[in-house]
Amino acid sequence: MARDLSQLELLTELQPVAEENVNRHISMAKEWHPHDYVPWDEGRNFAAMGGEDWELGQSKLDEVARAAMITNLLTEDNLPSYHREIAENFSMDGAWGTWVGRWTAEENRHGIVIRDYLVVTRGVDPVALEQARMEHMTNGFATPAELAPGVLHSVAYVTFQELATRVSHRNTGKVCNDPIADRMLQRIATDENLHMIFYRNLCEAALELSPDQTLNAINLIVQNFQMPGAGMPNFRRNGVLMAKHGIYDLRQHLDEVLWPVLRKWSIFERNDFSAHGENIREDLAKFLEKMEANVVKFEEQRDRLLAREAKLREQRAS
Ligand SMILES: [Fe+2]
Ligand SMILES: [Fe+2]
Repeated sequence: MARDLSQLELLTELQPVAEENVNRHISMAKEWHPHDYVPWDEGRNFAAMGGEDWELGQSKLDEVARAAMITNLLTEDNLPSYHREIAENFSMDGAWGTWVGRWTAEENRHGIVIRDYLVVTRGVDPVALEQARMEHMTNGFATPAELAPGVLHSVAYVTFQELATRVSHRNTGKVCNDPIADRMLQRIATDENLHMIFYRNLCEAALELSPDQTLNAINLIVQNFQMPGAGMPNFRRNGVLMAKHGIYDLRQHLDEVLWPVLRKWSIFERNDFSAHGENIREDLAKFLEKMEANVVKFEEQRDRLLAREAKLREQRAS
């Protein structure tokens, strides 16, 4: 069995890959400006400036769209915690440092544009939103200690997380019923996809460099994956609403996030794992099989629930 590389060895060996991918990212990323995505002429003063304070009737978003927007925005808001996490696990030197700075600046744009949109269009209660932001950011976010031993766990986690965020933003755009919101969220989703590619390429290079060690990190992350919103007010309630309405559910997590990445890394085709690595791969395969069964159960339950609700609505209408 090959020995595990140290954090310093991993960062040093992967430095040229980081450099190549930062350059790739910068050449692919398009400059865009949050103010171009916000319908400013819909805005007006709140009571403190002689206008009218928010009330529910002003929002054009339905309950599901509001829950998804708030969840996505609060997730973006916790950027200082994510910055700390990746700055601690990556190096701040050379290409690693360039990436950490660049990525942080791009992520900040997402929170700026979503908040501007929601406040100007009165999509959600700005007081409740601010209170939730205070609570969520004060709690902060940290990867559980058992999942955060360094650079490999970090790149594996953010690969899946960026892709998950992309799916969530894109599907939130679809339920907003507003082409302006849809366009804004599509723009953000494009950024998240580029971020995902950076981390996915780094993790792929790590698999080449230290196959067993990297597979071990990937397996741990896949089996314990959680979106970084757990400390958010109403996280469970909003998460359930989002899953129920197909914004982010278990099926999407498995089919649109986990599998495309695992396939890209050729996890189940590689022949460079040792016997130890083979065991980890089997464990991962079993986990994915079990998850597929859970997905089927989840979908059946959801279909039954939605059918019951539709029937209730019909009964009420007649
Ligand atoms: Fe983002
Ligand atoms: Fe991102």
